[in-house]
Amino acid sequence: MAAPRCIARGLGRLSCVSTPLSSTTTRLTHAVWWSSRILPACTRTFATTPARLHGHVTPPKPGEELHVTFIDKDARTHKIAVSKGDNLLDVAQANDLEMEGACGGSCACSTCHVIVTDQDFYDRMPEPEDDENDMLDLAFGLTETSRLGCQVTMTKELDGLVVKLPSMTRNLQASDFKS
Ligand code: FES
Repeated sequence: MAAPRCIARGLGRLSCVSTPLSSTTTRLTHAVWWSSRILPACTRTFATTPARLHGHVTPPKPGEELHVTFIDKDARTHKIAVSKGDNLLDVAQANDLEMEGACGGSCACSTCHVIVTDQDFYDRMPEPEDDENDMLDLAFGLTETSRLGCQVTMTKELDGLVVKLPSMTRNLQASDFKS
């Protein structure tokens, strides 16, 4: 069999022998190959900031677990062992619960809205900051014990917390209101 007539020898095996590519495709393949050889010498490379990981939680150390229970939209309960310092948005996302967290936990939306089922637990939490209250005002189905999941950090005092996920969330962000 004749050697493939392909300048890009490395690609020849792929593009010219094993796959009967159209001549346009072959030309394009060659162009990509040549640009990968030539361009690095005359272009700058750019780095991108990796997307923030969501739902990243630290596995609790044995004996130091705290527990939080989520009640989802279908009234199913999910009791989860968490570590001190985990926030409810990360816990929910790490456990595939339906909590959007559109702003990535920066207190600029209301899609991590949770309803604390027990007033006593609600009172143990630090008061919400103004930013959180502003976003809560946009939340669908706001209650007296509503909080933003990304702003609630687990502590020993909150061990046994139960929160309900609202039936709907409103995906409005703070930026939607800037002129
Ligand atoms: Fe947007 Fe919590 S994820 S406010």
